[in-house]
Amino acid sequence: PASPASGTAPPGDQARARAKIGVRTLRTDRWWLAPLLTVLGLVAWLAYAVTRSFMQDFYWVADYHYLTPFYSPCVSNGCVPEAAHFGRVLPDVWWLPYAAFSLPFLLLFRLTCYYYRKAYYRSFWLSPPACAVSEPHRKYTGETRFPLIGQNLHRYAFYAAFLISIINTWDAILAFHSPGGGFGFGLGNVILLANVVLLWAYTLSCHSCRHIVGGRLKHFSKHPVRYRAWTFVSRLNARHMALAWITLASLAITDFYVMAVSAEWFSDLRFVG
Ligand code: FES
Repeated sequence: PASPASGTAPPGDQARARAKIGVRTLRTDRWWLAPLLTVLGLVAWLAYAVTRSFMQDFYWVADYHYLTPFYSPCVSNGCVPEAAHFGRVLPDVWWLPYAAFSLPFLLLFRLTCYYYRKAYYRSFWLSPPACAVSEPHRKYTGETRFPLIGQNLHRYAFYAAFLISIINTWDAILAFHSPGGGFGFGLGNVILLANVVLLWAYTLSCHSCRHIVGGRLKHFSKHPVRYRAWTFVSRLNARHMALAWITLASLAITDFYVMAVSAEWFSDLRFVG
C-alpha cells in the first residue's frame, strides 16, 4: 500500500494519478530542433570520420611531419615508415584502419560518454526526445541490462583516451619540423596544437576523470592537491557538452587540413622553416 508518510506511491498508483493527456506533448516551442540538429551533426561527422579512416591516404605531410589524429598512432604495415612513430605491426588490408589500435577506444570513449549518451538517447532513440515530451517506447529499463550496462566501461575508456591524448601531443611536438630538418613552424602546427589542447580539455572534463581525481574523498582539506585538481576538472566539466562538439569540429578541421596539404590542394602557410 502507498505510504503517505514516505511520499512515494507504488507505480500503479502513480499511473492512476497521472493526468490523462491525449497528445504527445503540450509543448509549443521547437523542442524537436535540438534532437534534429544532434542527429544531423553526429551523422555528418561519422560519415566524414569513417570515410577518412578507411581512405588510407593523405594522412601524412612528409615535409613538415604533420600526422592527422585519425591515423595516430599509425601502426599498419601500410603506414609510411616516418609516420609510424610506434612501429608497424598490423597487416595492410583495406578493412583495417591504419590507427586500428586507437580508433576503437576513442569510439568507445565517445559512445559511452555521459554527454553523448544523453545526446543519442534523446535524438536517435527518442527516450525521451525532450523534456515533457512522451517517448514512443513502452518499457524502460535504463542502463541496467545488456547492452546498455556496458556503458559502465566508460571509466576504462577514459584511461585509454588519456594515453591516446599523450600520443596526439607527441605527434604535435614532432610536427615542429622543417623540410631541411630541424625546427619548423607553420599554420599546420597551430592547428595540430589547438586540436591537442582541446582534446585534453575534453578528456580532462570527463565525468569519470572528475571522479577519479576527487571522488570518494571524505576530507578535501586532507588532500589539497587532489582538491585543487578536482576544482580544475570541475570547472572544465561544466563545459563538457561544448567541448564534446568543439573537439568533433577540431578533429575534422585538423584532419582536413592535413589531408589538403598532403594532397597538395594548397600548401602550408609557413612562419619558420
Ligand atoms: Fe564524456 Fe567521460 S563523460 S568523456
